[in-house]
Amino acid sequence: MLKATAIGTAEVGTGRLIKAGHEMRIAIIGAGRVGKSLGAALRATRHRIVYGVRSDELSARPVHGGGEDMETIGGAIAGSDAVILAIPWTSTEAIVCEHARALTGKIVIDATNPLNATSSRLALGFDSSGVEILQSHAQGATFFKTFNAAGADAIAQPSYPQGRAVMFVAGPAGPQKQAVLGLVDDVGFEAVDAGELRAARLLEPLGMLCLELAAQGRKGDFAFVLASREPAEVEAEHPCAVVALGAG
Ligand SMILES: NC(=O)c1ccc[n+]([C@@H]2O[C@H](COP(=O)([O-])OP(=O)(O)OC[C@H]3O[C@@H](n4cnc5c(N)ncnc54)[C@H](OP(=O)(O)O)[C@@H]3O)[C@@H](O)[C@H]2O)c1
Repeated sequence: MLKATAIGTAEVGTGRLIKAGHEMRIAIIGAGRVGKSLGAALRATRHRIVYGVRSDELSARPVHGGGEDMETIGGAIAGSDAVILAIPWTSTEAIVCEHARALTGKIVIDATNPLNATSSRLALGFDSSGVEILQSHAQGATFFKTFNAAGADAIAQPSYPQGRAVMFVAGPAGPQKQAVLGLVDDVGFEAVDAGELRAARLLEPLGMLCLELAAQGRKGDFAFVLASREPAEVEAEHPCAVVALGAG
């Protein structure tokens, strides 16, 4: 589990300092299955959530009670420390381009999978990724890829009998990444740093694998869990390997 003590401070937006483990103002663009699951989970910890929705969807009522507000996309981004993109890929590039200036200085978390228009396959890969394309459209923001490789049910409840579901994070190292890892941890996942943003070229196909497994009729809600062993356990189970290394 991510420890708040191991985390640095990130400066976001107009100079507001963000420390992982502290409250963040988060704009979630898209109030669909993923957006609502993330919003509910993050709000249940300590974060302030505002949904950015299409103007014609706007109304005074909360999304599903409990003080979550809706705003225009521009309004939601303006008041945020971090922005989560939870809309179909086919709309995402245009929205990032339109709001590129407002995103400057902010953490942007891309939860989309870059599916083609019929959702039958990824629209791009493996020499680029959706999030790298988005980063090129809004160079003043810092993009991360995460929350894309689990279904909305798993996002709403990432705890399984086998343990916490894993969620990988791709993006540049530093305090902002620590803040993103902290958010993934807040949602309830085992947050794992997958490396730089280009690692999203692997994470987006992993998201597609979730869709494929569901399409093949896998029952129930499921997610990936990261199994691991402490080095001492490996040595104990494979003593010959240890002897061979020592003999050299
Ligand atoms: N579903 C999953 O299990 C899952 C898991 C991981 C990642 N993802 C990814 O997460 C993203 C969202 O998936 P979802 O399942 O939450 O989809 P969804 O339930 O269909 O919700 C999409 C939301 O985006 C909104 N939207 C669409 N176009 C928009 C635009 N141009 N401007 C503003 N809002 C717009 C929709 O509003 P309207 O209702 O007005 O159309 C809706 O609220 C997708 O990129 C998907 O690949 C999905």
